[in-house]
Amino acid sequence: MNISFVDLHAQYLSIKSEIDAAISEVIAQSAFIRGPHVTRFEDAWAQTLGVKHCVSCANGTDALYIAMRALGVKPGDEIITTAHSWISTSETISQAGGRVVFCDTDYETFTIDPALIEAKITPATVGVIPVHLYGQSADMDPIMAIARKHNLWVIEDCAQAHRARYKGRVAGTFGNAATFSFYPGKNLGAYGDAGCIVTNDNHLADWAAAFARHGGKGEHVMEGVCSRMDGLQGAILNAKLPHLPAWTEARRRVAARYDKLLEGVGDIITPKVAPDRDHVYHLYVIRTEKRDPLRKYLTDAGIATVLNYPKALPFYPAYGYLGHAPEDFPVAYANQSRILSLPIFPEMSEEMIVYVVERIESFFTNLPGGADRRPDRMAACSGSAS
Ligand SMILES: Cc1ncc(COP(=O)(O)O)c(C=O)c1O
Repeated sequence: MNISFVDLHAQYLSIKSEIDAAISEVIAQSAFIRGPHVTRFEDAWAQTLGVKHCVSCANGTDALYIAMRALGVKPGDEIITTAHSWISTSETISQAGGRVVFCDTDYETFTIDPALIEAKITPATVGVIPVHLYGQSADMDPIMAIARKHNLWVIEDCAQAHRARYKGRVAGTFGNAATFSFYPGKNLGAYGDAGCIVTNDNHLADWAAAFARHGGKGEHVMEGVCSRMDGLQGAILNAKLPHLPAWTEARRRVAARYDKLLEGVGDIITPKVAPDRDHVYHLYVIRTEKRDPLRKYLTDAGIATVLNYPKALPFYPAYGYLGHAPEDFPVAYANQSRILSLPIFPEMSEEMIVYVVERIESFFTNLPGGADRRPDRMAACSGSAS
């Protein structure tokens, strides 16, 4: 059996008529750049999250950059962010003129460890960017308390956390602003690049919208950038949005099955969810000391896996100038050689989940000194799909 990491085609087929109609409408209206479909999506997404403003832009990376410019980042400003994320989170700090200050992560949740943030604050610190990594919110209460105490702004990077919750409140509503990516593979994904900034701050929203459209359409009050959402992406996101709650539930079901079936298999550590959080499982990331051979074994069995991410950010050549050593970020450093993202997508059947687990079990059973063979799960599942 071949199992892809995500299956966007299966998702398309499940809502084909809605997507096809949305695309046809945009073409019939020639509503290619921004326009009514994008405006409708901005309103719908703001309403979904319960925020005042959604400013669409071309992608989630631009959203971070524009939000930082809107918050007035200037050369020399220091911004604290997690050592474990996709590079968009940190490269945009430098693009905006700031200085990247990395902070290690919490062992259980992979998100920035609030207990370590204060030690990183200097007179030059202006903001903090927590990332709700893999679909689980960072620990927002202590982060916001530190930000208030030191008069720092907070941008939540929600690229992987559409509709995740922290203490019942939706991620993206804690900081001064939050940014989303609608990259195709995201929990809510477009058919190309797309992103947005959400905020309750009127001035920030106005400034960001103007900056993203060449400094204001008609009236160029400043030089800006060109970061627009396409009409096609807006229309596709409008078609997909009503399905997001069900897709999120389906992801949670897949994660719950993995959790249960992987219990006690080899040395695997399944993802931990803090009791006050609703994880949306953009990614399902296990940890094992046997990561590389396991990954090869799964690849040979037709199962796609991904490393999110092969290195913690401070250890990429791009940040060599910071001169960090592994002991500066012991948790993120240890995780980089242990993490493995398993396939997860809403359309994943029970048979697929069981196949992945069975192959993982078989890998550990075949190791020297491996455990006795476990029950034949594929037979037990008898080809049923759920
Ligand atoms: C944590 C995080 N931040 C930012 C981004 C950037 O989003 P985009 O690819 O839409 O620019 C991503 C995308 O993968 C991400 O995972």
